[in-house]
Amino acid sequence: MIFKDTMSIATRIALLFAGATGLIFITVGAYLYQALGDELDRRTDTELIGKVTLIRHLLKESTSVAEIERSPNSFLDALIGHKGLSLRINRPNGSVILQNMSIKKVLPQISPLPLDQQPESKDIRSYKPDIGSGRILGAMGATSDSEPVQIVLAREGTEKTELLQNFQQTLIVGILLGTGLAMIFGIIIVRSGLHPLEAIISKANDITAQHLNTRLIVHGSPHELQKLGTAFNSMLDRLEDSVQRLSRFSADLAHDLRTPINTLMMQTQVALTRSRPQEEYQTLLASNIEEYERLARMIENTLFLARADNAQLALNRENLNVKTELQRIHDYFEGLAEDKDVSITINAEDASIKADRVLFQRAISNVLTNAVHHAQRGGYIRVSTKTEKNVMEVAIENSGPGIGPEHLPHIFERYYRGDESRQELTHSTGLGLAIVRAIMHLHGGEVYVHSTVNQSTTFRLHFML
Ligand SMILES: Nc1ncnc2c1ncn2[C@@H]1O[C@H](COP(=O)(O)OP(=O)(O)O)[C@@H](O)[C@H]1O
Ligand SMILES: [Mg+2]
Repeated sequence: MIFKDTMSIATRIALLFAGATGLIFITVGAYLYQALGDELDRRTDTELIGKVTLIRHLLKESTSVAEIERSPNSFLDALIGHKGLSLRINRPNGSVILQNMSIKKVLPQISPLPLDQQPESKDIRSYKPDIGSGRILGAMGATSDSEPVQIVLAREGTEKTELLQNFQQTLIVGILLGTGLAMIFGIIIVRSGLHPLEAIISKANDITAQHLNTRLIVHGSPHELQKLGTAFNSMLDRLEDSVQRLSRFSADLAHDLRTPINTLMMQTQVALTRSRPQEEYQTLLASNIEEYERLARMIENTLFLARADNAQLALNRENLNVKTELQRIHDYFEGLAEDKDVSITINAEDASIKADRVLFQRAISNVLTNAVHHAQRGGYIRVSTKTEKNVMEVAIENSGPGIGPEHLPHIFERYYRGDESRQELTHSTGLGLAIVRAIMHLHGGEVYVHSTVNQSTTFRLHFML
């Protein structure tokens, strides 16, 4: 492009506009120039024809060549007021009978029109005088006593050339002026046309993290800007959403860290109020360790999620046999489930997927931990797999109270915990499912949940093959 990228749109359009206008002016000007030249020639031709006819007529009124030589004035008078006209009348042998003063140069020889022929434009020839181009007409004439003479009438190009030169200058000035005006108008028009952009700019200037609820009024703005406005607004929607999530995230994090720290502080303060037997200190420290562990887990999980969010986690993908992996996880959870009298059955295909082993185990374990935790005493957990097209699904179903529809849309959010889980603060961090989802996204997969209250809950993990 001929324009610099940073050039303003107004200048750009104004320049293009002025360029286009200039081009139009030049085309029209050239056409007018040509037309004026043609028109001048046409007029000259009509004039030459008229004068030749007049001179033939005057010849008819003269009796002889001798009489013309004696009094040439009536002929010369016919040329008065016609600048640039040259007349010569000569005998057929070439000797001049009469010629007017304006002939500075010998007129070229041209074959004359026969006496009985009326001159027409096609009989007129062009010739080259000193300046520009001239028109010349030759015709036979005769006196009343039938003496033949040659009439040569010419018009120099000086006047036409001058006129055209003046016209050309006027045209150039006009074109420059017109183009300049087009440029100025262009700038004014474009500026006012772009005015709605100013509104966007001033709105955008008002937006800060605290005032993310400002929106552009799309309705009623020029339709080119409606798309921009809509895109801008939906960007604001997304920003507002993430800022809100971020502030909820930090508020929740603060809250969730404060509770265990307060517990630790209180327990320790109470213990320090007086001296106690050694066993009491041991119990306190053991209880403290549990809280420390929870805190450490929370911090580790939060860091994991932050790194997953910023795509800083390098996946170590390998071929995993799903059956073997699930069996391994099952062995780990068997004891826990037995304590709660919950049965775990695994029904896995002998299929393999490409996934990060540690993260795969972590995702399944997080879902299983919840399942064991939420299944009622004597309930069941069923793990199964199924391959369809290019998706390998691991489904983990557990019987139990299920998840209420009011919680369902939120359970994958960070720090989100169902009502009962909130009360038993010790185990729950509300990060388990957020991590499951992050792991699935890292693998290009997805996790879905389906729950029927007071019946069962199923989590489906989709891995792409
Ligand atoms: N199998 C399940 N049955 C019922 N509720 C569940 C189940 N799995 C998860 N939930 C709900 O989802 C919430 C979020 O789960 P999660 O992210 O693992 O956090 P946490 O287990 O630390 O509370 C839980 O607090 C619980 O209310
Ligand atoms: Mg959990």
